Amino acid sequence: MPQPVKGNCGGIWLKKLLVIGASGLLGSKIVRIASEKFAVSGTYNPQVDGEDLWRLEALDLGSKDDVERLFFKVDPNAVILTAAMTNVDACEREPLVANRVNASGPMIVARACREHGARLVHVSTDYVFDGTKSRKYKETDVPRPISVYGSSKLTGEKAVLSTMPDAAVVRTAVLYGWNPIEGKDNFVTWVLKKLRSNEKVTLFDDQHISPTFADDLADALVGILQQGASGLFHVCGPDCINRVDSGMMIADAFGLDKNLIVPVRSEAVRLPARRPAYSCLDSSKAEKLLGRKLISLDAGLARMRELEDE
Ligand SMILES: NC(=O)c1ccc[n+]([C@@H]2O[C@H](COP(=O)([O-])OP(=O)(O)OC[C@H]3O[C@@H](n4cnc5c(N)ncnc54)[C@H](OP(=O)(O)O)[C@@H]3O)[C@@H](O)[C@H]2O)c1
Repeated sequence: MPQPVKGNCGGIWLKKLLVIGASGLLGSKIVRIASEKFAVSGTYNPQVDGEDLWRLEALDLGSKDDVERLFFKVDPNAVILTAAMTNVDACEREPLVANRVNASGPMIVARACREHGARLVHVSTDYVFDGTKSRKYKETDVPRPISVYGSSKLTGEKAVLSTMPDAAVVRTAVLYGWNPIEGKDNFVTWVLKKLRSNEKVTLFDDQHISPTFADDLADALVGILQQGASGLFHVCGPDCINRVDSGMMIADAFGLDKNLIVPVRSEAVRLPARRPAYSCLDSSKAEKLLGRKLISLDAGLARMRELEDE
């Protein structure tokens, strides 16, 4: 078993940050960014072949024993919990597993944080809303999930805030960026792969989303942690656009053929889980705290191009 990473910055021992879900898109970005400020340990899911990107700890989030063992080993001062069962249709097919990971997991972690006196930032989703509004959702809007994924994440949020009222719960939306693991895709890399292999891409024209650059969100989460903020926050990119327009922007940014994008109404495609028609989030509360907005899809795609060329 690899040892937790210890950070030493010019002879000063740094505070220990545990990133649960470090093999995922968002978690891997947090590890990278936070390593300048914290001694970072990260976890991967042992049920999946782990990539040895960081010296990661195996953790099954739904297992109380696993979580307790890890907390005794790492003894973190702070935890950012990004791990989740994120495949929305798989959650619908396997509600027990979804609830174990997305609802029980955060409760187990919150209890461990309380016992160890560690701060907690937990990541949740725009899919806690039903999508019937036509203006950006605020933290004060009442969540009403329409999928197993959304309801399991909402139960996880509630468990965190009732166990640790001084935790921060951050809802975000449609994450994109370069994935740490070959073969894993997010919305943007999936569209890119299709366009680059000259395949048609069918995209919903009736789903409004706020795409969020994972690298940028990672920085914001570390900011929220460092500010010691508590309670519920919405943090996502500033756009509120449909998937077809997002696809067009991806094609433009990478010089690919827009004619391959095929708009479709969501009711024409039967998927196991329902998606909200409108799930844009209002991030103004977090913007005040952080003193900045997250970057737009345009800027995030430009950054992805730069990173690819580096
Ligand atoms: N992706 C989006 O568009 C989106 C939108 C809104 C909110 N969010 C939220 O943002 C957070 C991060 O999302 P992401 O896109 O970075 O997710 P991701 O790339 O799918 O990563 C999920 C992470 O969770 C780990 N994991 C899954 N099941 C686990 C288990 N049973 N025990 C321990 N670890 C487990 C995965 O490990 P392995 O990789 O080893 O399996 C991976 O490290 C999640 O909480 C998600 O709900 C995501």
